[in-house]
Amino acid sequence: MTILVDKKKKLFTLQTKNTTYQMKVGKFDHLYHIYYGKRIDHQDLSYLMYNGPSHYVPYPHEAKNRVGSLTLLSQEYPTVGTGDLGSVALDLENYDGTRVVDLKYKNIEVINGKYSLEKLPTFYANNGEAQTLKITLVDDLTGIEVELFYGVFGNNDVITRAARMSNLGKKPIKIHKMQSMSLDLIFGQYDLVHFHGRWGAERNYERLPLSHNVTSFGSNYGVSSSKENPGFLLVGKNTNETDGYCYGFNLVYSGNFRATAEQGALGQSRVTLGLGDDQFSWKLEPGELFESPEAVMSFSGYGMTNLSHNFHDVIRNNLCRSKYEKARRPVLVNNWEATEFDFTGKKLLQIAKAAKGIGADLFVMDDGWFGNRYDDNRALGDWFVNEKKLGCSLNELVKKINAMGLDFGMWFEPEMISEDSELYRHHPDWALNFPQRKALLDRNQLVLDLSREEVRDYLFERISAVLDSANVSYIKWDMNRPITDWYSKNLTKGRQGELQHRYILGLYELFGRVTRKYPDVLIEGCSAGGARFDLGMLSYEPQIWTSDNTDPINRLGIQYGTSFFYPVSAMGSHISDSPNQQNGRVTPFSTRAAVAMCGTFGYELDITKFSDEQKEQAKKYTKLYKKVQDMTCNGDYYRLASPFDRSNDLVAWQVVSKDKSESFLTVVVTNVVANASFVYVQLRGLEASDNYEVNGEIYSGAALMNAGLKLGRFKGDYPSQQIYIKEV
Ligand code: DGJ
Repeated sequence: MTILVDKKKKLFTLQTKNTTYQMKVGKFDHLYHIYYGKRIDHQDLSYLMYNGPSHYVPYPHEAKNRVGSLTLLSQEYPTVGTGDLGSVALDLENYDGTRVVDLKYKNIEVINGKYSLEKLPTFYANNGEAQTLKITLVDDLTGIEVELFYGVFGNNDVITRAARMSNLGKKPIKIHKMQSMSLDLIFGQYDLVHFHGRWGAERNYERLPLSHNVTSFGSNYGVSSSKENPGFLLVGKNTNETDGYCYGFNLVYSGNFRATAEQGALGQSRVTLGLGDDQFSWKLEPGELFESPEAVMSFSGYGMTNLSHNFHDVIRNNLCRSKYEKARRPVLVNNWEATEFDFTGKKLLQIAKAAKGIGADLFVMDDGWFGNRYDDNRALGDWFVNEKKLGCSLNELVKKINAMGLDFGMWFEPEMISEDSELYRHHPDWALNFPQRKALLDRNQLVLDLSREEVRDYLFERISAVLDSANVSYIKWDMNRPITDWYSKNLTKGRQGELQHRYILGLYELFGRVTRKYPDVLIEGCSAGGARFDLGMLSYEPQIWTSDNTDPINRLGIQYGTSFFYPVSAMGSHISDSPNQQNGRVTPFSTRAAVAMCGTFGYELDITKFSDEQKEQAKKYTKLYKKVQDMTCNGDYYRLASPFDRSNDLVAWQVVSKDKSESFLTVVVTNVVANASFVYVQLRGLEASDNYEVNGEIYSGAALMNAGLKLGRFKGDYPSQQIYIKEV
């Protein structure tokens, strides 16, 4: 039983394999949060709650003994105007201008299976994997009802959350903020781990002490962004990869978001996560519903690696409906860094031929195949094949590539429009733009108003027409600029604050249509590299281009940060040229291959220029990737040495198959020093009592994990080593 309801005590307990989450309805019918942490059976934990007096903080009028301030008590879903003076989850304006919603417990329902949301993607459950708890709260005066949903994935130690508001009153209200979740922890000292960045340097790991200041971060970019990722952790002061308690939170959403973390006056900790609230507002008419995106959380009492495994498993098994989530991903060759816009059909065929020669499965034609798109200043929106440039129809090109034994994929950037395009000349009003002002540009492009149905219809029709014209088995869905000019000609003055969210709802609606019509097409997400690497996107596309920065040494940090929430199977990672296109660094082929193998593998350079030696290397690494691919994509991932730990001269990670029968270790030396000691690595995740073969030698799992493996002494620039480990 994963959900326990004690109706008499009004005590609600969610049990997963290793964790317990408890809530209780209090004296004045508010819903309190009691506990989230290591599993505890058969215990009402409400004795933990603060029951001292309220010193100069407000308390409910009924609390005659001055006990019961919502600022001091841990809340399940704190709301505005109730005397909770921390960051609230819900802020709304009633018809009469009052800014208050006082939610009291109404009823509870346990539902077999996992809830879903009407217009937003959510995790799903396979047979019997999850249960749902729905708690309904109501403000009797206004008729505002909020349903809190909890999806309990017992075996994964994962709980999903969402909130749905109904306006059952007689007047419209305006929502200013509605978070998907809030979590109060009664006591404890924590660090906040978040993942910040920029183009070419996404998801940097940063660990800060949680303080009494509110730490607020999020995205105002219109995409989840490379500036901050929605996934973040609260970890105990001494927590590391293998020990200590930690919480992870993430959001199934691809647009603006807001996360807050703070300590209360008495040392309680609070985090909230949900829709971005800058410029956001939503008018809710009587009888209407508003649903928050889904949040997902997990607790580990055994360090951060374990926490990552919980997320990796639930993402791989319960998020993306694409058949490719489970299927082997193709090794691909993409022409972008090889040619950019300067290609012909003939050149593409040459690259495809070389791709076949190195054992790849898929050739991808990137940007530049449509309209008048000879550079990045024009033609976005004109999704008509440029047959003149290709020298043939798309179908003819694809047939030739298929005849080589390769699948074919292609690039789209559906959400964009260039001023210099036929689409813009016909529909200038389809672009987001403030009236009477010139729109902000980025890469000389504007953003289409995806909140409009006719815009989505056009895109669906165009994408379908192209896909129906040839045997296309993969799409790279790019999105290359932040959204800034938040004004839709389709919305009235009072509703412009809804646009950021309506854009994302429109995007998901379009993705839903495309994925339903083309279930056999693999979609890889991309957003100026990895600026939209989130669970919303991963609901439709099982893999995302991790970064435009393909330098393997920079990628160590990017892929390390990404790995806290997202599995290897989600990370697009390719071998590119040396010197690297973005930072000019020279690295060995072997290291570029080793790093690219920690993702969905491919090539991003002009492979027609490979020397014979490089061809042989490419063949060798493609073959090796295919050998370890099932393990890396579906196994357990271990971070052994961090690129953010400046005392390390190396970065190491390891993947272990679920049955622990094989493992794959990668070490990259980032700073080679003279007269160095040998490199020692303690492995993880093996079966202690089993024997494993490593480079022809036999070791026990216990020896490899406790004593460690002795590697060589490394020389040269950025050397690396990959080691395949097999149980014997
Ligand atoms: C940005 C992407 O991140 C690149 O990989 C490439 O597809 C370009 N866009 C094409 O314009």
